[in-house]
Amino acid sequence: MIKKGIILAGGSGTRLSPLTKAVNKQLLPVYDKPMIFYPLSVMMLANIRKILMIVNPGQIESFKNLLGDGSRYGINISYKIQEKPRGLPDAFNLGKSFIQNDNVALILGDNFFYGQSLTKTLEKSSQHRSGATIFLKEVSAPENYGVAKIKKNKIENIVEKPKKFISNKAITGLYFFDKNVSDYTAKLKRSKRGELEITDLIKEYKKRKKLKYELIGRGAIWSDAGKMEDLNNVSNYVRSVEKVQGIKIACLEEISLLKKWINKNKIKKNINFYGDCEYSAYLKKIIN
Ligand code: DAU
Repeated sequence: MIKKGIILAGGSGTRLSPLTKAVNKQLLPVYDKPMIFYPLSVMMLANIRKILMIVNPGQIESFKNLLGDGSRYGINISYKIQEKPRGLPDAFNLGKSFIQNDNVALILGDNFFYGQSLTKTLEKSSQHRSGATIFLKEVSAPENYGVAKIKKNKIENIVEKPKKFISNKAITGLYFFDKNVSDYTAKLKRSKRGELEITDLIKEYKKRKKLKYELIGRGAIWSDAGKMEDLNNVSNYVRSVEKVQGIKIACLEEISLLKKWINKNKIKKNINFYGDCEYSAYLKKIIN
């Protein structure tokens, strides 16, 4: 079972500058919510309630102003500072005492997942006992991502941002690892760009024949929001779905209420916290 999750919400966000000069990328709006709500909702849908949020120096307060200790959503959030962007596996160095001897999920703070089959896939994968699970999605520009080549239902090869085409299956920013993850991370060497690479960590599991994958099908969407155009596309997507269907994507209270982690009284308090806004109006609709 996976009960703990790390959200990487640091990084320099240079591709979104000047938006990110004064505000952390993960606090920028994706239509009607801060970006961080979306990866947090994915953790919650996977029944993960113990969260470590990794943020840049000087930014803990901003995140706390928004999310606090998580009790507003029936979860527990603790925070840790990453002094420099040393790469994604650094999450498992910084999170060593948080992880202890447990399995752990990692999600990147700028990743967006949405779709019906997804909740089932997440619930199934979070039952995971040993090894690693990665989530793949077909994309039109694989050179921008880590990719995995699949042959006979097995992962044959993994490459970070391949210059030559090897596969159109991107490795999305959601990973489930067993308790060995901090030990394997300690063995990693920095890549040419001076960072620890998540693809190298995944290869450690592949080497031991402990790597599984789930393919995110056509009915679900995945995107990262690290570039201006993607940020705008994801915002527009959220807006369209919410408008047509009259629902909200990544409403944390709605997920939590469904799972019976919070009650209606708690939501009333949250409405006071947010004030008079569209999000609060939606919360009122849910509890009535
Ligand atoms: O989005 C999926 C892709 O994410 C994967 O396909 C790639 O394999 C993986 O390397 C990663 O690629 P990116 O180039 O998009 O990673 P980026 O450096 O933009 O970092 C992703 C998020 O993690 C971003 O929200 C900031 C945060 N971050 C990143 C680094 C390197 C940190 O909090 N700390 C870090 O040290």
